[in-house]
Amino acid sequence: RALLRDPADRVVVVGGGVAGLSVALRLAPRPVTLVTAAPIGLGTATGWAQGGIAAAVGADDAADLHAADTGAAGAGLTEPDVALRVAAEGPRLIDWLVRIGVPFDRRDDGALALGLEAAHGRRRIVRSGGDATGARVLEGLVRAVLAAPSVEVVTADVRDLLRDASGAVAGVVAERDGARFRIPARAVVLATGGVGALYAATTNPPGATGRGLALAARAGAVLRDMEFVQFHPTAIAAGADPMPLATEALRGEGARLIDERGEAVMAGISGGDLAPRDVVARGIFGALQRGRTVYLDARGALGAAMPTRFPTVAGLCRAAGIDPATQPIPVRPAAHYHMGGIRVDGGGATSVPGLYACGEVSSTGLHGANRLASNSLLEGLAYAGFIADALDAPVPGRLLPETDAVRGTPDLPALRALMESNVGVVRDAAGLAAAAETFARDARTCDAALVALLIARGALTRTESRGAHWRSDFPHAAPPRHTETTLAQALAGAP
Ligand code: SIN
Repeated sequence: RALLRDPADRVVVVGGGVAGLSVALRLAPRPVTLVTAAPIGLGTATGWAQGGIAAAVGADDAADLHAADTGAAGAGLTEPDVALRVAAEGPRLIDWLVRIGVPFDRRDDGALALGLEAAHGRRRIVRSGGDATGARVLEGLVRAVLAAPSVEVVTADVRDLLRDASGAVAGVVAERDGARFRIPARAVVLATGGVGALYAATTNPPGATGRGLALAARAGAVLRDMEFVQFHPTAIAAGADPMPLATEALRGEGARLIDERGEAVMAGISGGDLAPRDVVARGIFGALQRGRTVYLDARGALGAAMPTRFPTVAGLCRAAGIDPATQPIPVRPAAHYHMGGIRVDGGGATSVPGLYACGEVSSTGLHGANRLASNSLLEGLAYAGFIADALDAPVPGRLLPETDAVRGTPDLPALRALMESNVGVVRDAAGLAAAAETFARDARTCDAALVALLIARGALTRTESRGAHWRSDFPHAAPPRHTETTLAQALAGAP
């Protein structure tokens, strides 16, 4: 479809995962240009989500219980009002997805079949196709977007944000096949996902390099808690990049973490195999550091039931030459989810007028220092609605000529190796300072280096251990606080 719409009405949404697609749909009938880096439906982490959508729909459940579990996981930095507001949206959002045509798993009596995941006090994980929820949700949203007359889809890279004379964001500069073009708009919503691909070991698609964070930072937006990167404990360590995921639900069903001698990896650690995600990630990391090989052993608990109970994981194992019914699955922690991001208010607005953010790229206050499993799809869905409600901004003024943004090409393998070794599961001042110094050299012209710098500086300034952020030189928690930074501060060497 052609870009014929009046920019006075149009909203540009950048990103084709759960957040971007939902924002585009929730804004209807207002005109949206949805810009996706890969053809729609591809290249987004949403399609790989094996968990589900947390929603307090059970008879024994309530939004305040879900919010309390979210806050407990968030380790002191979840904002309780945000958690309650998002949890309260859960049941309505599931209904919305059902109306769109997402086929959630149901019990014989027709009620939703609810799964239980670590650190949830109730069965509240709504799933589709067992461990294929992300793929099914993505399919449903893509189908709805393609059928929505108010949404035009453009496959292109967003290179820059347009500003009007008042400094408000008023569109994007996009590039396709080497040609640059402007898409003016009354507002821009960034929904570009996470940063996992900046790490050598990640469960994220290659495009997850924090592009939206760099665009926002270069526009002067405030970024918050950038140091909080969640490492999934059990990525399948069979040589693939990105690494396929072995969902935590396997451990919920009794699969065990063992080493090559068959000994329990989590022995002596509080919570054992079912400890929170960050604790298990550090337990496995420690075992690997001691020279052990770590396996997720589903033979006893699931065995021949693997292909029916966990078809996605079973397929990923088979593709890696592993039969999980008869062989333990080699695993290691991998960068999985970014809790930090562009600071937004309750309507998804960033600190820059005209610029909004939704989903993993944003920092809403929901996840705090450690995201509760299956809260990420929920957050993207919920904030899409909040943004649609909030987006009644005035039309932009006269556009300024765009700056000729020159971006360097990063040495991505070297950057990923340095993130892995110095800004990974366990961090210390010397390693973080060395990494920050290296990233700072290229951060002015290279987006990946800028985002890596922002994460390393955030981690350096957080002189404590909390949630997913572990400092071997500061192993205890300090009083809870957020860290905030801007491009200018990061480039000047301040946190
Ligand atoms: C998993 O299924 O282990 C991952 C789910 C999530 O990241 O929320």
